Amino acid sequence: MFLLRLLPVFWALSVRADFFHFDSISNVSTYYFNYIYCNIWEGECQPNQDDATQQVPARDLWPGFPQDYIRMLNEWYCSLGQCCESGDCRITNNITGLARDLQQKLHGQHLAQAVVLKAVQGFIENPDSNKPLTLSFHGWSGTGKNFVARIVADNLYRDGVKSECVRLFIAPFHFPHVRLVDVYKGQLREAIRDMVLRCPQTLFIFDEAEKLHPGLIDAIKPYMDHYDNVDGVNYRRAIFLFLSNIGGAAINEVALDFWHSGQNREDIGMEDLEHRLRADAMEAQGGFSQSQLLSGHLIDFFVPFLPLEYRHVKRCARDAYLARGIQPIEATLDEVAKAMLYVPKEEKLFSAQGCKSIPQRINFFLP
Ligand SMILES: *[C@@H]1O[C@H](CO)[C@@H](O)[C@H](O)[C@H]1NC(C)=O
Ligand SMILES: *[C@@H]1O[C@H](CO)[C@@H](O)[C@H](O)[C@H]1NC(C)=O
Repeated sequence: MFLLRLLPVFWALSVRADFFHFDSISNVSTYYFNYIYCNIWEGECQPNQDDATQQVPARDLWPGFPQDYIRMLNEWYCSLGQCCESGDCRITNNITGLARDLQQKLHGQHLAQAVVLKAVQGFIENPDSNKPLTLSFHGWSGTGKNFVARIVADNLYRDGVKSECVRLFIAPFHFPHVRLVDVYKGQLREAIRDMVLRCPQTLFIFDEAEKLHPGLIDAIKPYMDHYDNVDGVNYRRAIFLFLSNIGGAAINEVALDFWHSGQNREDIGMEDLEHRLRADAMEAQGGFSQSQLLSGHLIDFFVPFLPLEYRHVKRCARDAYLARGIQPIEATLDEVAKAMLYVPKEEKLFSAQGCKSIPQRINFFLP
């Protein structure tokens, strides 16, 4: 039975003799990528575990296969009882879990909580949507953009960010050289096409999107647009997340204004931010702004991440302790929160690093 299951794989390998011709999108050193993945993305990794390299886009088995054949393979696989209720075991689309995680694990982000849930739920429950879902996360580092991307991945896919249906691109690491933009364009298009062929509901995450070359965004723009298909492939079930710090200053200003005028942070509404974000994103230096992504109105939702305050940092610290099975006392949480730097100089209201690296920092404050 086991061998039988491997048959199509052997078949595929013989057809695609160039399978082992590994063509990663850029020669990112494994070590460096692991470092980023484990530290910034806070993936579950041990120092020597190189699992994370699977995140580096690679040429793989399916591209070039007729889609019909893939469907037949799927049916055959299902006939062996390997299919799930959803039709695809890799996809869980757990909206209840998404709502719960956004509510319980994300701190100080009432707007992101509401917008992300609404956008993802609307998209998942409407299989006839006429374009992929495109969200743009904005805010300072440490405010939870990556964290929310992980929460989305964890609830939509059985294997979370490690799923073969999730692809993470970190602009400065995958596309470091401006002179290679034309090469990257081809590779990125091919990677996106391959992924979507293999998994129509692929989640593409572009971290540090402010550093993406405009040419790169424009190269993938057709995939995000309202087309039935591009070269015979249908991209309408794909999800694109762009994470950037564009507009971070504007968001912080609005939050500070609210505080100065004695209003509740939770009363900040999308209307207070959205047009400023859009304007900022259009004006900002760098790829994101000059690309057609913004002018072409392809972003479905701008998602603002507010700067975090002392009380939010404490909640992050509490989560980090609980995740290690330690019940922290209030004084310890205060110590952790006090060790962060707060800005602006006068008000000392916002943590300059948000909740970034709190899980690492708590090592120094074991209760
Ligand atoms: C990638 O980097 C390694 C070492 O860093 C080097 O040996 C290898 O030739 C590089 N590959 C390409 C295709 O540049
Ligand atoms: C969805 O997530 C919730 C909360 O995490 C969990 O209790 C539930 O079992 C999940 N449902 C499925 C179908 O995985």
